[in-house]
Amino acid sequence: MNKKSPIGIFDSGYGGLTVFDEVQKALPEYDYLYFGDNARAPYGNRSFDVVYEYTLEAVQFLFDQGCPLVVLACNTASAKALRTIQQNNLPKLDPEKRVLGVIRPSTEEIGFLSKTRHVGILGTTGTIQSESYVIELKKFAPDVLVSQHACPMWVPLIENEKYQHPAGIQFIEEDVNELLKKDPLIDTIILACTHYPVVAEKIQQIAGKDIKVVSQGPIVADKLKQYLKAHPEMEEKLSKNALREFYSSESTIVFNEKAERFLGYPVTSIHHSF
Ligand code: DGL
Repeated sequence: MNKKSPIGIFDSGYGGLTVFDEVQKALPEYDYLYFGDNARAPYGNRSFDVVYEYTLEAVQFLFDQGCPLVVLACNTASAKALRTIQQNNLPKLDPEKRVLGVIRPSTEEIGFLSKTRHVGILGTTGTIQSESYVIELKKFAPDVLVSQHACPMWVPLIENEKYQHPAGIQFIEEDVNELLKKDPLIDTIILACTHYPVVAEKIQQIAGKDIKVVSQGPIVADKLKQYLKAHPEMEEKLSKNALREFYSSESTIVFNEKAERFLGYPVTSIHHSF
């Protein structure tokens, strides 16, 4: 297939690269187009209306670039915008296209991970306040007791690479301990923000070896693989030249440097802003 029909991957910033990295490893033959709205990140403390507006703009942009399928590799956007986009916008924009999120695949798996049936969720203020994890987990693992804690400082710390600074470490320690104080029986912590795998090692150290710290990337990659198997009509539309394209709404120089650190290979991004 010569026509470019990549899988679109969207995040407010760099966090989605943790998902993209796992997806491209699991499904290397496909073309991908990553868009990071770095100029407007973080989304975590923004209102529903603003997150919806920004996410819709990003989805529209990725559709315009030829993506038949877009993955919102952002929990905040998945929590606050996905349903409205799927139900209200998609039928008008292009009923043949699809937008998927990261919350549903994660909540489908959580039930298989916890032995104590006590699970902790760490996310942005937006994701935690939306109660999306609590609502979805009721469907897929109703016996699991969920405790949540918002970590509003983490995305700014990660976007600005201050998470190894003593002040950054202090925020991470405080937040993990706050979550564990809510329920000492937690044996599984879900990193419900795609930025957080960057600090997964630190979280694991604080939580201790008996607690599983779960990043979403591998789960989302696996679910996407299953989705494409179950939807040959979508799979056939996707181009497979192993191309990777990156767009950022901020400085491409900064994006290239940081993305290379996330992915381990040189990245040349293109600027796009709204
Ligand atoms: N990576 C986004 C998420 O998964 C971060 C949101 C933000 O920009 O605050 O929620």
